[in-house]
Order: sequence, then structure tokens, then C-alpha cells
Amino acid sequence: MTVDRYAVVGNPIEHSKSPLIHAAFAAQTHDNVEYTRLLAPLDGFVETVQQFFSEGGCGLNITVPFKEEAWQFADDLTERAQRAGAVNTLKKQPDGRVLGDNTDGAGLVGDLLNQGVALVGQRILVVGAGGAVRGILQPLLAQEPAQVLIANRTFSKAETLANLFTDMGSIQAVEMTHLDQQDAFDVIINGTSASLSGELPPLPANLVANHTACYDMMYGNDITVFNRWAQQHGAAQTIDGLGMLVGQAAESYRLWRGRLPEVAGVMEAMRGQ
Ligand code: ATR
Repeated sequence: MTVDRYAVVGNPIEHSKSPLIHAAFAAQTHDNVEYTRLLAPLDGFVETVQQFFSEGGCGLNITVPFKEEAWQFADDLTERAQRAGAVNTLKKQPDGRVLGDNTDGAGLVGDLLNQGVALVGQRILVVGAGGAVRGILQPLLAQEPAQVLIANRTFSKAETLANLFTDMGSIQAVEMTHLDQQDAFDVIINGTSASLSGELPPLPANLVANHTACYDMMYGNDITVFNRWAQQHGAAQTIDGLGMLVGQAAESYRLWRGRLPEVAGVMEAMRGQ
């Protein structure tokens, strides 16, 4: 029996949890697949990917720092990937063309909905305006929230991002220094990379009330600084990015193999590790 080959490409790559997640999906679906880590040289992404596909590989996940290069590389793009300006999933199609998708936002939205967080008609604050945030805005706005505000340390980047998505719904940039004039939000999403270094963007307490759900796109063994801040200010719910990680993997799996694996059990197993 032939094995269908997949991998995650990045640099560095040893830390990636994707092989564990995809092994769990394959066990669920009884698919005969192999999923490995692939280290690409910083100046050798395209060669690495071309070699993988020319040797019969079926699909790739793309992680830091290659998501924009993957966007350039893809022959065709899904609409959400086109909008995201970045690709986290590549699929070799039957005609040989490589399709690029971005499943990060679908992973986030799926996790929010699974955790009981309503999005339709809600006021949402997104903190951060880097590549990670750009990747989630299309699926988030597709849920038809009442309003999305983007706050970022560098205001001009929040403005640029909001302008890219205005045709999809009510989305505006807000100055960090004006956040103290806002009513509490229904949902706050931290999409900055500040958590990675244990830092927190300066957020005033008035943003959170006892109906606010707070979501950190990062996750770790301990509660993130953003979620600790949210709990201290009485948020209704704090969620970390593990569900987004497993969810984006599940959406990639669906693109490759036509079936959406079940995520809850896999999240539980990952949390236990
Ligand atoms: P990613 O791909 O993770 O989005 P990125 O494109 O470098 O990475 O974006 C990082 C985001 O985190 C940016 O919004 C950045 O703010 P700036 O645009 O002002 O650089 C934000 N960020 C990183 N460290 C931060 C910190 N210590 N405080 C506040 N925001 C921070």
C-alpha cells in the first residue's frame, strides 16, 4: 500500500507539534499517511518545497518564517489565502499545480465557536497587526460581527490592515492610547507576538467586563500573560491558542484529504503532554 506523504516546513522546525497532531488525525481516519518535519534553509524554501513535491509529496504545512514565500510560490490561492497574504497549507493538485490555502483563521473561528463564544453581531477587539492577525481577519469578518477594532503598538500597521478588509464588514483601527475610551468588548483576541516573551501590550481595564471572552492566539504550558490579565479583570472566559493550532491542522487535513478530523480529543491529548 502506498503512503501519502505530508510535512511541515519551517526554520527552526524541531519544536513543531504538527506531526503529533496529524498522526492523531490519521489514527482517527485510518488513513495511511506519513507526516514529518522538514527543515528548509533560510534561503532555500522554494528548492526544498519543489524537491518534496517532485518526489511525490502530497501536501505541506508552512510555518515561520516561510508563510509569505509560500504565498508567492503557490500557483493558485484560495480567497482566504489571497486575503491573508500568507499561506500555511500547500496541496499538489491532480493537474500538478500547487494550491495555497491559509487555515489559521478557520482554526481560530472554529475554536471560538466550539468554546461557545458567539461572534455574529458582537464587538471584537483584535490586538496586534502582524502577519498572524492578517491571517485571521477574513474568516473572522465572515462571521458577521457588529464591529472589529484593531489596536496595535504601531498604529499605522493597524490602519493599513483595517483598510485591506473594509469591504468585508465594519473594521477600523484604534489608537492604543484611545482604548481607555472604549466600552467593554464582547471578545478580545490577542494576536501579538508579545506573549512569546512574556510581555503584554498596555491594555486598560475598561476593555473587559464579566461578559467578555478573551482569546490568546499563543499557548504554552502555563497560562499566558494576556489571559492572566483578562482573568484578573473578571473576563467571562479565557482561552489559549491550542484549539486554533489543532483546528488549523484539521482544516489542512480536510483540504488534503476531504475529511475534517475531530479536534476535541486531540486537543485533550496535546494538553496532557
Ligand atoms: P506575527 O507573524 O506573529 O504576526 P509579526 O508580523 O512580526 O509576527 O507581528 C508581531 C505583532 O506583535 C505586531 O503587531 C507587533 O507590534 P508592532 O507592529 O508594533 O511591531 C506586536 N508586538 C510584538 N511585541 C510586542 C510588544 N512587546 N508589545 C506590543 N506589541 C507587540
